[in-house]
Amino acid sequence: MATMKAVRIHSYGGPEVMVYEDAPMPALHNDDVLIKVFAAGVNPVDWKIRQGYMQDKMTLPLILGWDVAGVIKEKGPGVSGLEIGDSIYTRPSIFRNGAYAEYIAVKASEVALKPESLDYNQAAAVPLAGLTAWQALFDLAHLQTGQKILIHAAAGGVGHFAVQFAKWAGAHVVGTASARNHDFLRSIGVHETIDYTATLFEDVVHDADVVFDTMGGEVWERSWKVLKKGGIMVSALRVPQEGGAEALNKLGAHVFVQPDAAQLGEIAVLIDSGHVRPEIEQIFPLQEAEQAHRLIQTGHVRGKIVINVTSS
Ligand SMILES: NC(=O)c1ccc[n+]([C@@H]2O[C@H](COP(=O)([O-])OP(=O)(O)OC[C@H]3O[C@@H](n4cnc5c(N)ncnc54)[C@H](OP(=O)(O)O)[C@@H]3O)[C@@H](O)[C@H]2O)c1
Repeated sequence: MATMKAVRIHSYGGPEVMVYEDAPMPALHNDDVLIKVFAAGVNPVDWKIRQGYMQDKMTLPLILGWDVAGVIKEKGPGVSGLEIGDSIYTRPSIFRNGAYAEYIAVKASEVALKPESLDYNQAAAVPLAGLTAWQALFDLAHLQTGQKILIHAAAGGVGHFAVQFAKWAGAHVVGTASARNHDFLRSIGVHETIDYTATLFEDVVHDADVVFDTMGGEVWERSWKVLKKGGIMVSALRVPQEGGAEALNKLGAHVFVQPDAAQLGEIAVLIDSGHVRPEIEQIFPLQEAEQAHRLIQTGHVRGKIVINVTSS
């Protein structure tokens, strides 16, 4: 049996359950491409799944990591539009093995060409967080030029893409982060920064058209106050209760990111035209995926963490 190096879990638990080991090469389905992974993005869903989130839908042993940049090495007979040798990036389905590995099989319909201006580490930082922000702002909130948007955790993986998309769309952007991140927030397009450790955002933000929440909990609950009537809050964590938001004449929505090659293509255009840039806090080698998880679980990463698998 052909094998590859991968980081897998054989049981759910803390970062120590991640094992760097030999794993079987992925099986290729008719509509799949086999990708040689150059880099894998790290996202909070990786450690949540490692801890047991959605375990009824997962199969052990499991390779974590659902953000990929790499090169197509093989394609199934049903694949058209992509060629062996293409440099690609993708956020594949989380219900298959992930990308903390030398190879991953991915449905071709989930794969887009990599932005040319990014290297593989940078490209791997984009798909999951970028698609989440895109689907929240444009598919759900239908953000318009001139609207005011409050973006929570604006320096985080999802937040820093949301800020750049909102700025590009011509919105007035208000962002929360601790003070150490405010220069960074201004550099990516935030018009008004709020230090959540010193100021209650609801004391200073009023009549927002859109709130994008990636914190949940009491941040989500308090955020209804800042929305104007008819405004919408999209949350990556909370599902609005039936009737709750409507009673306030406000709208609530939940984003659960979906693979989308067409949207990755649009994001690549924004990146290559200089409107959007991924921020990377740290790059780890595949063997140190455990350390990458310990860092992302602090909840205070600026931008993204990436696992570099190979450089050639
Ligand atoms: N539903 C979906 O499809 C979906 C998709 C992607 C992500 N998510 C979820 O969304 C959440 C965020 O993901 P992410 O990748 O953006 O996480 P992340 O990169 O780990 O977020 C870290 C950021 O959060 C900021 N932060 C921490 N506490 C804060 C607070 N009280 N107020 C404002 N900012 C705060 C930190 O800024 P400071 O260092 O300045 O504190 C840091 O920059 C996670 O729970 C993730 O699982 C859901």
